[in-house]
Amino acid sequence: MPFRIAIDGPAASGKSTVAKAVAKKIGFLYLDTGALYRAMAYAIRQANIPPKEKVLQQFCSSCDLEIRYIEGEQHVFLEKEDISLFLKDEEIGNFASQISTFSCIRQALFDLQRKTGEKNNIIADGRDIGTCIFPDAELKIYLTAKTSVRALRRQKELGLKEPLEEIEENLRKRDRRDKSREIAPLKQAFDAIYLDSSELSREEIIEQIIQYYHQRKGI
Ligand code: DC
Repeated sequence: MPFRIAIDGPAASGKSTVAKAVAKKIGFLYLDTGALYRAMAYAIRQANIPPKEKVLQQFCSSCDLEIRYIEGEQHVFLEKEDISLFLKDEEIGNFASQISTFSCIRQALFDLQRKTGEKNNIIADGRDIGTCIFPDAELKIYLTAKTSVRALRRQKELGLKEPLEEIEENLRKRDRRDKSREIAPLKQAFDAIYLDSSELSREEIIEQIIQYYHQRKGI
């Protein structure tokens, strides 16, 4: 039976960096579920269709999205083309947040995520991993940080180009949308460990999560 670690939390809380590093250290597969929503957002932009339930429903039924692991790294393929490099920017992230409120989008990505966790020891990060995708995960973490700290981190990631206030406002908006949507909103699972990374270094969070993993495994 595979061991699954679920990490949920708001944007820029450090989930991806930390989950990726933990996966490497303990030899788990890393599943970045945000990249899947971003891939859908990218695909919808490319298809130039309006984000409306009926249109999206039809779009999802024919959309060929695939996850492949190349040298241990997750890549997302759309219609057999690797689109991983096009998914990083803020605009796609915001649009992903918007389209992730549609049930057909969440449904389309549900099986893809579940399948990846079926056979592999996995660490997955996102918004609804511990509550919906792997509600029976062996270890669940809710990773967060103060909005001001997250904004500073995001500004650094973006190459210090954007004004801090704008980034902070954008994060607040995204948090509000991700937490208040009707289906699978971002929230701490009742059995998740709450981890505030505001005062912790990246290495400290990684170590903390590995410790929790060892405790759960009894090693
Ligand atoms: O983690 P991220 O910034 O790459 O995610 C982009 C958006 O995708 C996020 O704002 C909401 C959506 N998302 C989601 O609804 N559920 C997930 N498990 C992961 C991401």
